[in-house]
This record gives sequence, C-alpha cells and structure tokens, in this order.
Amino acid sequence: MSEPQPIYLSDYRPPAYRVTHTELTFDLDPAATRVKARLHVERHPDREAGAPLELDGEQLALKAIAIDGQPLGEDEYALTERGLRVERVPARFLLDTEVEIAPEDNTALEGLYQSNGMYCTQCEAEGFRRITFYPDRPDVMATFSTTVIGDAGREPVLLSNGNPVERGELPGGRHFVTWEDPHPKPCYLFALVAGDLKKVEDGFTTAGGRDVTLQIWVEEENLGKTDHAMASLKRAMRWDEETYGREYDLDLFMIVAVNDFNMGAMENKGLNIFNSAAVLTHPDTATDAAFQRVEGIVAHEYFHNWSGNRVTCRDWFQLSLKEGFTVFRDQCFSADTNSAPVKRIEEVSFFRTAQFAEDAGPTAHPVRPDHYIEIGNFYTLTIYEKGAEIVRMLRNLVGWDAFRRGSDRYFERFDGQAVTIEDFVACMAEASGRDLSQFLRWYDQAGTPEIDAHGEYDYANGVYRLVLRQRTPATPGQPDKRPLHIPIRLGLVGTKTGRDLPLTLDGEALGTDGVIHLHEEEQEFVFTEVAEAPVPSLARNFSAPVKLHFPYSREDLAFLQTHDSDGFNRWDAGQRLALLALDDLIAAHRNGVEKVMDGRVVEAFRALLAAEPDDKAVLAEMLTLPSEAYIAEQQPLVDVDAIHAARQFVKQSLALALRDDFLRVYEANRREAPYAPEPEQIGERSLKNVALSYLMSIEDEEGIELARRQFEADHNMTDVRAALTLLVHSSRDDLADPALRAFGEKWAHDPLVMDQWFSIQVSRPQSDALERVKFLMDHPAFSLTNPNKVRALIGAFAQNRINFHRADGEGYRLLADVVIELNRLNPEIAARLVTPLTRWQRFDETRQDLMKGELERIRGEALSPNLYEVIEKALA
Ligand code: ARG
Ligand code: ZN
Repeated sequence: MSEPQPIYLSDYRPPAYRVTHTELTFDLDPAATRVKARLHVERHPDREAGAPLELDGEQLALKAIAIDGQPLGEDEYALTERGLRVERVPARFLLDTEVEIAPEDNTALEGLYQSNGMYCTQCEAEGFRRITFYPDRPDVMATFSTTVIGDAGREPVLLSNGNPVERGELPGGRHFVTWEDPHPKPCYLFALVAGDLKKVEDGFTTAGGRDVTLQIWVEEENLGKTDHAMASLKRAMRWDEETYGREYDLDLFMIVAVNDFNMGAMENKGLNIFNSAAVLTHPDTATDAAFQRVEGIVAHEYFHNWSGNRVTCRDWFQLSLKEGFTVFRDQCFSADTNSAPVKRIEEVSFFRTAQFAEDAGPTAHPVRPDHYIEIGNFYTLTIYEKGAEIVRMLRNLVGWDAFRRGSDRYFERFDGQAVTIEDFVACMAEASGRDLSQFLRWYDQAGTPEIDAHGEYDYANGVYRLVLRQRTPATPGQPDKRPLHIPIRLGLVGTKTGRDLPLTLDGEALGTDGVIHLHEEEQEFVFTEVAEAPVPSLARNFSAPVKLHFPYSREDLAFLQTHDSDGFNRWDAGQRLALLALDDLIAAHRNGVEKVMDGRVVEAFRALLAAEPDDKAVLAEMLTLPSEAYIAEQQPLVDVDAIHAARQFVKQSLALALRDDFLRVYEANRREAPYAPEPEQIGERSLKNVALSYLMSIEDEEGIELARRQFEADHNMTDVRAALTLLVHSSRDDLADPALRAFGEKWAHDPLVMDQWFSIQVSRPQSDALERVKFLMDHPAFSLTNPNKVRALIGAFAQNRINFHRADGEGYRLLADVVIELNRLNPEIAARLVTPLTRWQRFDETRQDLMKGELERIRGEALSPNLYEVIEKALA
C-alpha cells in the first residue's frame, strides 16, 4: 500500500459529471450480495467534453459494466486504486454496473454490513463507495429508486429511503420492496435495512397539514423501549416548526435501532439509523443521562433533515456547516425541554474538558480543516461542539430575530444544494447588516484563544477599566495566530449591593448585562458612572469558547458564587474556587506536605447546602467538584496521582465537615415517585446521588447502608447505577463483589445494561482495574467487533486516570494491543480509541516515553489510513 496522501480544500473542483437519478437493486446475501446500479449521468454544463468519468469504489468485485446498454470491453475502462475510470463517455448516458460485496465480512461497519443477522448501512462520510461504484462526494445529488431483494423468512422487513412504491414475491422464498426517494440527495444519505424487525408506529401532522407516519424499528425484545424516543421525535418535529419554521417533507419517517454502530446515529433521508444505545430506553435499564442523550440525538438526527439533508455540504471540509449548526439546534431544543442552566453547565464542562484538550494536542484542527487524510477522523469535538459554539456566538452577535431571518434565507436560497460555511455566514451577515469578516476566522484558526483580563476601579471618578488581551497558542501547522472577534458578555457586580451595576461604555448604556466586542489583540474598555467597587462577571453563560483568566481572589469567587445574576457564572465561580484549593493540595501532595483543607470552600458548600434550592439540578452541579480530567486540563504538567489524591481529600474533607447536611439533603430528596424522565425528578435524583457520593467517600456505616439500600431497592437505573458505582468504587470488595455479581446476573441478557456493568468496574480507582479489563475481555458479553462494548470496556478504562496512567505502562500497553487488533477490524474505532495515547506531551518524562513507545509499536503495523493519520500527527 502506498502512503496515504492528504486531500486539500484548495484543490476543490466541481464534479465533471453529475448523476441526476440513481437506480439500485440489492440481491441480499451475507457472503455475496449483488448490487446493480443504473446511474443517469450528465456532463457538468461548464465542463469541456472529453473528461474521463471517475467513480469511487472500494472492495467491490465488478461483475458487469455497460454504457447505454452496451457492455464495455476490457480496454474501455480501468479499475484503479481509487475505483473505476472510463476514459471516453458521451455528454449524457446511462451507466450500468453490477458488483458483488460480502456484508458478513464487513467489520469496519462502513458500507453494507450485518449486525445481529440484520443488514444495515452506514455511508457517511465515504461508505457508499463500498456498496457500488459512484461519485462518492456530497456535491453530487440524485433522486434514488432502490429495490431490495431478500429472504422472505429471514428478512421480512426491507427498508430504504423515501416511500415504498412496490412489493412482491419472488421464486425461491425471496421477496422484494422498491423504495423511491423524490428528494435529490448525496449518496452519503443513502440507507438500507433488512431483517426480522418489529415496529412501533405513531403519527404526526405537520403545521402545513401533512400526515406523517412515524416508525421505530427494533428487534422484538426491544419493543418496550421505544416510548421515549418516539415522544422525543414528536417534540423535536414540533419544535423545529415553531422555532425554525421547518416542516418534515415525506409521508414516512423511520428510525432503526442497530447494535453494531460506530457512532451515535445517522440522518439518512427518511430512514435514520441509530446505535441502539442512542434510541432504546426504559426506566429499569437506562439512566436519566441516557434518557436525555436519546432525546438529544433523536432531535439532532431529525433536525438534519433540513440542516444537512435539504441543504448539504459542498465537500467534507464543510462538515461543521451541518454538524455545528445541528448541534446548536439540538442544544437549544434540549435546553427548552429540560433545565436550561444545567444543560449549559453540562455542555460547557464537557467542552472545556474534552474539546480544549483536543485543541491543545497534536490532532488540533480548525472547525473547517484545510486538509485531511481520512475524513472519518474529523467527526470530532472541534467540528461538532466548537462548531456549535461558533453558531451560538453568531446567534448572540446578530440577535435571535436576525439569526432566524438568516436561517430562513439560508434554507430558501440553498434548498437542494451543496454549499459552504461562507454561504451560511453570508446569510447571517445579510440578514443582520453586520460585517462578519473577522468573525469568519473562527472557522479557519485552530486552538483555544486565551484572554488575560485585569480590571481596576477608580474610586475618585467612578470608573472601571477592564483590559483584555487575547492570544491563541500555536497549533500544528499554524504557528502564527491572528486576533479573533470575541464577544464577551459581562456584568459588573457591585460589592456593596451584590447587584449588577448599570454599564456605561463610551457614553452608551448597555444595561446591566452587556456584550463587549474584543477585536484587537489588546483592548481597554472604560466603564463610567460605576457607583461602587465591582467584581466583574466575565464571559457569562460561556459567551465564547475561550479560556478566560482574571486574577480573582478567593473572596471574589465566593462573592460571585452567591451574588452573580448569571447562573452559569455562579457555578463557574464555585469551580474556580475549588480549583484554587485543589492547586494548593496538588502542590502539597507533590511536596509531601500535610494537606490542609481551605475553609472558604467548606463555608461555600455549607451555604449551598443550607439554602432552599430553586433548581435542584443546578445545585447538584454546584456541589460537584471539577473532574480529574478537568483539573488536569488546568495543570502545566499532569500529575495523575496528585490530582486524584487532592480531589479525594477535598471530597472527604467536605463530607466530614458537612456530613449532617449531606444526610439531610439525601433524605429530603429520596421520594420514590413512579419514574419519569422529567426535569424536576431528574434534579432530585442528581442532588440525592451527589449527596450520597459524599457520604460514601468517607465510607462510614450510615453512608454504606444508604448506598446498599438504594441498590437493593432497585427502583430505577439512575438510582441503581449511582449506588452500584459507589459500592464498586469503594475500598471494600465485600461491598463491590456481591453487588456486581447480582447486577451482572440480572442483566446478562441486556447488552446495553452489560455495557454499564463493564464501565463501572473498569473505572474503579482500586489498583485491580487493569486486571479486570483483561479478565472481562474474555467475558461472553464482550466483543471486540462491537463498538459499544469496546467503548464500555476499553474506552472507559482509558478514562480511569490513575489506572490507565499506571507508572509501569501496563495501561498504555493494553490500549495499544487493542488498537492494533482494531486497526484490522474497525479502523475508525481504532483511530478514536488511541486518542489518550496521543496526549503524551502533557505527562512526566517517564510516562511520555512509555506512551511514545506504544505509539511507535503501533506505527510498526500495516496501518489503515485512519490510524496512519493520527499516529503520524501524534509522533510528529
Ligand atoms: N452525521 C452523523 C451525525 O452527526 C454522524 C456520522 C458519522 N460518520 C462517521 N463515519 N464517523 O449524526
Ligand atoms: Zn450530526
């Protein structure tokens, strides 16, 4: 194999030939599926005659090829590394091909594959080329007509995009269904499903009066787990009508649950295919977090019907055009149906931990990359989540009304087209009349901007001077960064009154909660008529995806934690305060000095626990210490053991000092109403379980008893899992083992619950976590070819910071062994799984050497393009 070569955005050319209509016939067989394709091809009107026809194709056995009914001779076409090339073609013609593929051998889960005996597809980004020869690029859009032929007994259900138009029996116990999709689409939105599936059906009438049939297809034993997804789908459909004026455009909308799936889900036109973990829920098997995740993903895929399908991407460099916008849409939807402040806190804490780490590592890339080797490696937090943060900034910059007008303009102007990020931003600029040219840099510049802020209050003149200085650290391939347009939402909180002071900037009144715009490298903002000394509350609600440094004293932070009018910044002030205390303790641990708990943190927690909370879910977040991963993000050099010890010390100190308060909160929130995934109940459960985690951190008899009783009460998975985790993560194997055994036996038949069972044990802090992983890899419920299992066992272990980063390097070795095996089986998953090893620069020299050693060992293999790209970057 020759070395994989990068593809550049600057090389983009429109296709020489387009396909206006695609007719497919699948004759299904696990080892030898026959795919006939008839493509209606035309030369692009602007392109000169004589360009060869180039089609993509991988792992296809060509059986027949003809143009306008005339079979081609051996010398009239060529099979190339990329696919198929026909040197001379007319300006307009029909191309017929027939290929053979083997779904049962497809462990990469791209193209047509089998999962639990059923057939399904995953074509985004470049899976369609494993199904038939085709111009596999998103700017080729065709209507599709698909006939699926299967065994009437084994595959009674045969699905594809659009509407079923014909069905019938065939000789030999076979049958077929023909589907027609009237909306032109790129082939990455093609889907096929065949198998013994059962459906749950419901209906939705659009605002315009179209009656839509909604179906969720699952294996029979999962029929009882679809209610929440169906309810979420209907809410999402209504929300998109009310919020964006977007209606569904077919008479049928289908969701299918499959067990083997690389990602969460896929927005194929009219036939969304979901990882079963992203669609199935039941109070007994799924936690509150899982219910919320399902709601968000169902909405996300549905919203793609407009932001992605009706208007799609010109090329894969524009991936964030559809993903950033759609994530922003699903975030807003979830905020509207749940506790909005908690939704934002969860988003941001995840973002600051995981996306900031990506931005700081060797695979950092812009939201719109300018080159890639394997696009499958770019379904990242940067493209998705940072892309969503950029769209959120846009919405805040231009205001909702202009944003909505811009969105309408975008969908109207580009309906049925494949477009770029500039096209989207131009609509926003036109609708708002704002100049967004500097803002566009957000898309092309990688790395997390850092803002150093300081302020000074001039008592004599009632003036507050705020100086902001921005810099973006160099990232691979981008040594020099330019200043960005960064919107900073802020308030000045008066230290006497505890209230937001009116903001006057350059004679203009901004209200008490205003936005200032940082355009330069350094800018001074002079607020006048400031009646009292303020503490600034900066980047409220995380108004930009930046790291903002301000020299807050601990008193300032305690003050903001109680007085800030912005709920997000109240939470953030508490996090900052805890981080300062943790810093001291990390240093104490490293220096072998006795650890002393900061009394201000204890008092802050005491106050939180004493107040009557208006939002229990927010309180639960405020009582949650920064994760080890987030603490690590703040350290210049990561000391996993010191971080773990410091955090544990804070947790136990708080539990000892405030034991009765935690007990009271636990008792006050243990009401056992019939389970519902509703904000109020979810808040109550989170608060109760946070309290329990403090009580269990000191492992006194009462805490243990409460955890044990909660586990045995078996009321719902949220409470059971919380209790089980605490028992298993305790120092007492006499608590851990019986609980694990009981849980494992009870749920042996349910793969999604067994995933949780795997994760809980391998994330325990005890030193046997690694041995458990090895042991569990031989468990009958584990399988290396199922991505959910790999994530639940190996992925979860790699997040177990003290055990994955064991000083003997055994954690790294285990991960590398699995990555090497997956390189052959499923390159996309292999390239994702290796991520923790690529972050070696953050650790001490011994660990650096061990991690690099494993990366080198992986490099010695015959690598898939996916892994090749990641490993080369990591070792560059
Ligand atoms: N478009 C899908 C979604 O965001 C994800 C597809 C991912 N495909 C892949 N090969 N990584 O919902
Ligand atoms: Zn998406």
